[in-house]
Amino acid sequence: MPQSEKIAQRIQELTALIHHHDFRYYVLDDPEISDSAYDALFRELQALEKQFPDLRLSDSPTLRVGGSVLGQFTKVSHRVPMLSLANALSEAEFQEFDQRVHRFLERSDTESLEYHAELKFDGLSLNLTYENGSLISAATRGDGESGEDVTQNVRTIRSVPLKLRGKVVPRLIEIRGEVILPIEDFEKLNRQQIGAGLKPFANPRNAAAGSLRQLDPSITATRPLALFAYGLGFVSDFEIKKMSDFQEKLSYWGFRVGEWRRVCQGPDDVFKFYHEIQEIRSRLPFEIDGIVVKLNRLREVDQAGYIARSPRGMIAFKYPPRQETTTIEDIIVQVGRTGVLTPVAQVTPVRIGGATVRRATLHNQDEIDRKDIRIGDRVLIQRAGDVIPEVVKVITAVRTGKEKKFHLPKVCPVCGAAVERKEDEAAVRCVSRSCGAQLKERIRHLASLDALNIEGLGDRIVEQLVDAGLVNNYSDLFNLKNEHVLALDGFAEKSTQKLLEAIERAKKPELNRFIYALGIRHVGEKTAKSLAKQFGSMESLMNASEQDYEKIHEVGTEISKSLVQYFADRQNQTELLELLRWIHPQSPKRPEGAAGLKLLGRTVVLTGTLPSLSRTEATRLIEENGGKTASSVSKKTSFVLAGDDAGSKLQKAKDLGVQVLSEDQFLELLKSSPV
Ligand code: IVH
Repeated sequence: MPQSEKIAQRIQELTALIHHHDFRYYVLDDPEISDSAYDALFRELQALEKQFPDLRLSDSPTLRVGGSVLGQFTKVSHRVPMLSLANALSEAEFQEFDQRVHRFLERSDTESLEYHAELKFDGLSLNLTYENGSLISAATRGDGESGEDVTQNVRTIRSVPLKLRGKVVPRLIEIRGEVILPIEDFEKLNRQQIGAGLKPFANPRNAAAGSLRQLDPSITATRPLALFAYGLGFVSDFEIKKMSDFQEKLSYWGFRVGEWRRVCQGPDDVFKFYHEIQEIRSRLPFEIDGIVVKLNRLREVDQAGYIARSPRGMIAFKYPPRQETTTIEDIIVQVGRTGVLTPVAQVTPVRIGGATVRRATLHNQDEIDRKDIRIGDRVLIQRAGDVIPEVVKVITAVRTGKEKKFHLPKVCPVCGAAVERKEDEAAVRCVSRSCGAQLKERIRHLASLDALNIEGLGDRIVEQLVDAGLVNNYSDLFNLKNEHVLALDGFAEKSTQKLLEAIERAKKPELNRFIYALGIRHVGEKTAKSLAKQFGSMESLMNASEQDYEKIHEVGTEISKSLVQYFADRQNQTELLELLRWIHPQSPKRPEGAAGLKLLGRTVVLTGTLPSLSRTEATRLIEENGGKTASSVSKKTSFVLAGDDAGSKLQKAKDLGVQVLSEDQFLELLKSSPV
């Protein structure tokens, strides 16, 4: 067999193998090989595809890593509209629905109808189009007629098959499903958001939507989204009679459908399913807001007809929301790491969805004013996932007139320093650098899992260390002596030893962890990684200019400004230099070969069809080498990478005198020494 055929065969094998292992892991939750064995397969395929781009298959799993950055999403029409569901909020309402369906199907009251009951996933719905088994498009629901094309992003979701499994597939089919973010991942994402000084997502659904609607698919690729498939849009030349059979088929084709679904005969069976699911609801790894009940025979759904864009033969049978009413007993003010004052309501304890709630965040003064929240008010509060509950609204009808308005203090409630509010921000901040509350939060962040990971340095210990005056800045922490720790509450010889050892271990962190640990506003884990990769040392990071920061892909104006501000601050400089006497961040290894920083700070515009590289490949090469891509040519464009049939962009480059490179010249450039 010629060499090229052997390579093509290996690429096919690897593609199929990785799809198989993705299916075992992401759909069946039952992996057959270790993560490292999987990584080895993935890397082998990536290397082969890089060397032989023509041999890459259209459903290659390497496409899941994320394609090029979009300027905006384009609109796509659904072949069959995406409708919505009517709701039932009680058993009585479900009975009414059942009787209505009987009437429209002209069935006798004594006959039980066959339903398919399943979970109502609380995410956002998608329409996936497969042609001859290959995923060709993925779109959001939009207005039901057309939505946004999010194909590139959806490709990164591992539980979405890029190719349907099995031999017999329809020529064209639209499959509907719900994209969700599991609760645990949602909480992790929010910790990261907070760690980066960003606003946390209100609930897993918002986080899933925000993750899917990223113009940069590589960001979506880092979010562990999952898809549950449940429905059918358009289908050609394929006979499907029952929803239960269809969902079996979906499972066979490689989708996650979940084991929580049941064929029910009449309302009593449905109620049983409804209550069983309600029982396990809080243990499910994702959010649901009810069950969906559908006539099992698709012919009957059609027969029952449609009203106000909802099928009469289906209904969302919802669970009561996880909301409760309670009373605001007081409003306290917490001071965070960056000095932000957050008003928090202390409420009369109340149970919501299995947990006792004592506090609810009020976010900021604007939010308090907008909702007109006062101390003593009866309020409706809600809990989504395990995030801090929030006040939905005030029940003004029961006000007595004794409720007290609340205003954030003019000085920091912890250190007494002045507070300020920047023009474009809702947050009010304590301006003092020596504020004990901020220091505690900064130390907690420094010690946290994704930062220096100092085991055993929990909230209570940080509290004690700061209150006792033992830790007044970062460096004090690394200068702690045996006798200091021993004097704290709850410490004996052994536990003291353990904590000091953990602190000692934290003195050689990876550079990216160290950057993240500093708690610079807007610098989350991911940005810290990019900064570490591009600058390689604390010294070059500290001495870089705003323009240098901006040259990095993912670092926008906000982050670069924040970095400049942080490193320009005298106190930060002193504290950092002092800290670096104790801590020695470990620089990341430079990528080998052509990859590196050859295009650092360069903006490239792609146009036309390149002879061997696909657009995604070319974009990836540019980004791996530190460059950025842009969609239009301007004076700022470093060069245009042009292939066949290049149109107006090429002309514009010529007009502006911007350099134009062919694919060969481009690849040559990457091989050359850094520019
Ligand atoms: S079937 C006619 N099944 O609920 C619409 N929808 O209010 C048929 N949803 O937009 C939808 N889980 O986003 C169906 N198992 C499930 C579902 C489900 C969640 C969502 C979907 C839809 C909304 C309807």
